[in-house]
Amino acid sequence: MLTPEEIKAKKSKGEMISMITAYDFAFARIAEAAGIDQILVGDSLANTMLGYKSTREIGMTEMLIFAAAVCRGAPNTHVIGDMPYLSDTDPQTAYDNARRFLDVGCASIKLEGTPEGVIEYLRSKDIPVCAHLGLLPQTAADFKQKGRTEEEARAIEAAAKFVDNLGCFEMVLEHIPEELGEKITKEVSAPTIGIGGGKFTDGHVLVMHDALGMHPGKIPPFAKKFVDMYSLGVEGVKKYIESVNARA
Ligand code: KIV
Repeated sequence: MLTPEEIKAKKSKGEMISMITAYDFAFARIAEAAGIDQILVGDSLANTMLGYKSTREIGMTEMLIFAAAVCRGAPNTHVIGDMPYLSDTDPQTAYDNARRFLDVGCASIKLEGTPEGVIEYLRSKDIPVCAHLGLLPQTAADFKQKGRTEEEARAIEAAAKFVDNLGCFEMVLEHIPEELGEKITKEVSAPTIGIGGGKFTDGHVLVMHDALGMHPGKIPPFAKKFVDMYSLGVEGVKKYIESVNARA
């Protein structure tokens, strides 16, 4: 399992970092068998696994059930627990919830934005923190690309330097212009992990259900479908139904 230090070292060696989300035992096994560097138990499970419209619909209770299942399925992979909405409203609450992720086997936690005093406190307690900047789905008013205006780009760049100085071992950059992703990647010591951050980040993360085509219909413009598991699944179940009907 890669430690936070080993993940940081990959940047200095010019090696790319691969991250994918997984939410349960079966898909965590697939990710580990494929040799992924890191698994994120993203709060996107609210959408992908539970069918909610917003990631704001879930809390720590659900996150811990899924995080524990992922850790059982991928015992040799660095698993990141994603702090859900309202789990990091103040430093102590954030610390208590981060500890719960580590207690079920996660190696680190990720949190969106820079909630007041929270990253400082978690780092003072030696909690490995992956930051998340750019589009922040828990609080965003819309899902448009962030950092398009000079002012917004400067704020994201400043936040990236801020979390880097606080000792975050990596940072996710979501849905920002490629030039901004490239600029930040050059300016910070922590690896940058893009999801719609252009091709110059130090690594990439995708939502497993987008990458494997688990749902029919549209995926975000920056995502890529590598197989069509929805169609494969429907095909498989149809064959099973035929076999049942044929009394086979
Ligand atoms: O919850 C999630 O899947 C995420 C990724 C989009 C980075 O936070």
